[in-house]
Amino acid sequence: MKFFVDTAEIDDIKELAATGLLDGVTTNPSLIAKSGRDFMEVTKEICGLVDGPVSAEVVALDHDTMMKEAEVLRKIADNVCIKVPLTVDGLKTCKALTEDGTMVNVTLCFSANQALLAAKAGATFISPFVGRHDDNGFDGMDLIEDIRLIYDNYGFETEILVASVRHVTHVLESAKIGADVMTAPPKVIHGLFKHVLTDKGIEGFLADWEKTGQSIL
Ligand code: G3P
Repeated sequence: MKFFVDTAEIDDIKELAATGLLDGVTTNPSLIAKSGRDFMEVTKEICGLVDGPVSAEVVALDHDTMMKEAEVLRKIADNVCIKVPLTVDGLKTCKALTEDGTMVNVTLCFSANQALLAAKAGATFISPFVGRHDDNGFDGMDLIEDIRLIYDNYGFETEILVASVRHVTHVLESAKIGADVMTAPPKVIHGLFKHVLTDKGIEGFLADWEKTGQSIL
C-alpha cells in the first residue's frame, strides 16, 4: 500500500520524506489555507520534495474553468496530480485530463456508485473520505470494501486512495481490504511506528546493555 501524507506543511513533508516511506502528498483548499502559503508556491515546493504524485485541487465548479485551472496547475511540475470534485463537471474534467495523460484524483467520494463513475471516467485515484463517512453515522470501511469489490469485478485500474484518515485503525483496515493508497495527516503516519511494547523493549535492552559496560563503536 502506498503512503501519501495529507498536508501542505513543508517541514512535516520533509521529515516523512526522509524516512523513504512517503509515496506522495495530497493537499486540498483547506490545507492550503491552513498553511498560510501561496498555493502555487507551496505546491511547487512540495513537488520538489517527493517523486510521487502531489494532488492539487481545482476550485472552479464548471468544466471549462476547471480545465483552465488544471492547465495552470499541471505546469507546476510533472508529478502534479489534478484533484477534482466528484460532480458531473468534475468527472467531465477527469475524462478530458486523463485522456491527455494527466493524473487525476477524484475527491469527495462518499458512495461506491460515485467511485464506479470515477473509474469509468478514467480517474487515476478515487478518494473516498472514511473519517467524514464515520462522522455521519456510516461505516467508512464498508465503503472501501464495496469499492474494492466493484473495481476488482471489472478490472478497473483506478487506485483506491483512502482519505480523511483519522487514526491508525483506518490504515490497518484499509491495508486488510487491499486499498491501493492511503493519505493521512502526519500525526497518524507517525502513530504507525509506535507501539508501547517496542518502547518498553528498547528501554529494557538498553538497561541490560549498560550493565555489560561495552560499546559497539
Ligand atoms: O484531503 C482530503 C481528506 O483527507 C480530508 O480529510 O480530515 O478533512 O476529513 P478530513
